[in-house]
Amino acid sequence: MDAQIKNFTSPFEKGELITPEQAMQLAIEVAKLGAPYVSPNPLVGCVVVNANHEFINYGFHKKFGQDHAEADALKKLSPQEIKGSTFYVTLEPCAHEGKTPSCAKTLAKHPVKKVVFGLIDPNPLVSGQGAHILIQAGIQTEEYQGPLKQSLNELCEVFLKNYRDKKIFIAMKVASSLDGQVALKSGESKWITSAASRTYVHELRSYYDAIIVGRNTIEVDDPSLNIRHPEINKENKIVVIDPSGKILDQIAGGKEFNFLKVNKKENIFFGVSKKNHDSDFQQIEFSNLNDLTEKLWHLKIRSAFIEGGAKTYSLFLEAGLVHRLYLFLASSIIGNQNGVSWTNAFGITSLDSKLRLKSTDVLKFGSDILITGQLN
Ligand SMILES: NC(=O)c1ccc[n+]([C@@H]2O[C@H](COP(=O)([O-])OP(=O)(O)OC[C@H]3O[C@@H](n4cnc5c(N)ncnc54)[C@H](OP(=O)(O)O)[C@@H]3O)[C@@H](O)[C@H]2O)c1
Repeated sequence: MDAQIKNFTSPFEKGELITPEQAMQLAIEVAKLGAPYVSPNPLVGCVVVNANHEFINYGFHKKFGQDHAEADALKKLSPQEIKGSTFYVTLEPCAHEGKTPSCAKTLAKHPVKKVVFGLIDPNPLVSGQGAHILIQAGIQTEEYQGPLKQSLNELCEVFLKNYRDKKIFIAMKVASSLDGQVALKSGESKWITSAASRTYVHELRSYYDAIIVGRNTIEVDDPSLNIRHPEINKENKIVVIDPSGKILDQIAGGKEFNFLKVNKKENIFFGVSKKNHDSDFQQIEFSNLNDLTEKLWHLKIRSAFIEGGAKTYSLFLEAGLVHRLYLFLASSIIGNQNGVSWTNAFGITSLDSKLRLKSTDVLKFGSDILITGQLN
């Protein structure tokens, strides 16, 4: 399936004078356009300015196996434009040949004056080597040290977690009332947040390799769990946490859940405590959530998006396995009496151990507020 890239218009005209921060900010923005399709590669964007520091082009990594950002930007440039140019790249140009040629070696063949890269490649086998190739070729090369450093780290958070810790990156989305309720005890939960928030959730789903849901959410909500977004075509993997195989039993008994109708069987996994089911669905035997996430890593799943419900949210928090939270807050109050809180099975005993969000961003979707930040 070809990558369908979201519409994007550069905020700068060709020939417009821009600052180094504007160049790096645009490189970050265009890198994000590849988010549904580049895994297990990092998101990378690139902006090129000419000898007068006028914007001339941008490029980004669009899909795994396709051109890297630098090659994408170079494709559209004439030799005259490249002469004396500066490349702003979000990540150190790669030194190694993989599915595509080395970006550092490609840039070294052109009359580029300078390369400013956002982060050193975390892969210890290639870290610093891309910069070395560029310096050897006489290109001024420096690591960006300006105010966008944190944004650059966030852009690469999945790749950094994967490379530094050899672990899956886990994001969690919660759609809650102002008082932290994600459903009613009766099971009713449609809808707490607005249509605009829900469309954005479909985009967020596409940023990660897999969606994780608890058994009860499948039974109560019967969700489809596919990506329904007008500008994105991607099929995710789905992991249903079903320790006793209750969902598998219902499927065996003929129940046709919605997520089975719209997702390919090879993309669906069941986390079970024991593989004792007469089922031809893929089963991952796990003893606890650390074990499950390690097994997902071995299945080459590099990132996951937890979609609920309350118990699943709480147990992932309790296990310290959540790296990014997306909390959509609707401007409504449901109350604890008949509501289900997304932290109902999570607790701390002293305020010193409260979980804190870092690098928090706040966005608005209609009357909803999205608070997102890093955990751990
Ligand atoms: N507003 C939102 O964002 C949102 C999103 C999703 C769901 N919801 C709502 O949340 C409600 C469901 O939440 P819920 O707490 O009842 O159920 P849930 O989290 O969907 O599922 C809980 C079940 O999943 C299994 N499970 C999950 N994590 C596990 C772990 N670490 N270890 C072992 N088993 C694990 C267990 O299954 P077994 O019991 O079989 O052992 C557990 O009882 C529904 O009403 C739904 O509408 C709201």
